[in-house]
Amino acid sequence: MQRMQVVVILGSISEESNNKKLAHYILNRYKDLMDMHLMTLNDLPMYNEDLESSLPEIVKEYKNIIRSSDGVIIVTPEYNHSIPGVLKNAIDWFSRGKRAMVRKPVMIAGASTGMLGTARAQMHLRQILNSGGVSAIALPGNEVFINNVSDKFDADGNLIHQPTISFLDQVVSNFIEWAKKINS
Ligand SMILES: Cc1cc2nc3c(=O)[nH]c(=O)nc-3n(C[C@H](O)[C@H](O)[C@H](O)COP(=O)(O)O)c2cc1C
Repeated sequence: MQRMQVVVILGSISEESNNKKLAHYILNRYKDLMDMHLMTLNDLPMYNEDLESSLPEIVKEYKNIIRSSDGVIIVTPEYNHSIPGVLKNAIDWFSRGKRAMVRKPVMIAGASTGMLGTARAQMHLRQILNSGGVSAIALPGNEVFINNVSDKFDADGNLIHQPTISFLDQVVSNFIEWAKKINS
């Protein structure tokens, strides 16, 4: 069977980001299960309807990458109880013109230094994914909330909290099985 092509969107543009560590951990640990491409949002311009008539090259490129993928994994921090502006900005671009995320299977994971592990941001994200322009399909249940993240990675960026690793393994496995059904 053909391997799934998955885009991993990183919702933080911080060099020292905890979610960057999580995204890299996912890219490494599950590389035998699917082909993954890391999408960073550092260079995306701010969404502006005036630019829609001649889309910036990077927007065209990112939309094509997403459109031709079999699924998306969004790894995001929580900023002030919601998703970071850079992630919302990217989704706004993807929702316009030839919409890039329609019926795209999406898995969500997030890490925060707080107690709730991005739970509130992920609730907002699910709402956004469900909007008409986006119309992506978020994996039901399977909520990867990594709280108190400073205790869960070592200095080299390895996830060292075994219950979190086991849970992530299960969610990724669920995502692959479910996404294949959505795409079939
Ligand atoms: C602007 C800002 C807002 C934040 N708001 C929240 C929040 O609402 N909930 C939370 O758990 N952590 C919050 N934090 C702390 C983040 O969980 C923590 O900085 C995390 O490491 C950010 O993810 P990153 O390292 O991947 O960029 C906030 C941090 C910043 C910079």
